[in-house]
Amino acid sequence: MMGNEAAALVSAALAARKNAYVPYSGYPVGAAVLGEDGNIFTGCNVENVSYPAGMCAERNAIGSAVTAGYTSFQGIAVAGSDKGFTMPCGICRQVIAEFHIPVVIVAKDEDHYKIFDGSKLLPHAFEEGCLKTGERNG
Ligand code: THU
Repeated sequence: MMGNEAAALVSAALAARKNAYVPYSGYPVGAAVLGEDGNIFTGCNVENVSYPAGMCAERNAIGSAVTAGYTSFQGIAVAGSDKGFTMPCGICRQVIAEFHIPVVIVAKDEDHYKIFDGSKLLPHAFEEGCLKTGERNG
């Protein structure tokens, strides 16, 4: 992924964060995923009065992309707190692993973001081979 694409992805995640529906946590998160052809899909967290029914920004962004027919991605950006770096939660890491998203960008704002190797975010992941063999990796 090019530097300008990373910056565009961060901008899209920050824009999506504005629509976060967070009446319970007050913790808005936005995410943007970059398809192979350069198209960007976004998501925000959408909470619910029945707390576990809430959905994270990352999974909403990935779900939106998959709905549009995308399953191959260059990267994903996440924008949560503007005071610290919001890392994807465990469930989102599992979904990031599902699609082998190679780059995970975590942004505080337009100018401050960290870039992580997506393949390192969920060590010893439960993956397709585990279903076949019934074994765990590592
Ligand atoms: N949240 C996300 O949207 N993504 C993450 O990876 C971390 C957590 C949301 C879930 C909930 O709406 C709020 O942040 C507080 O946990």
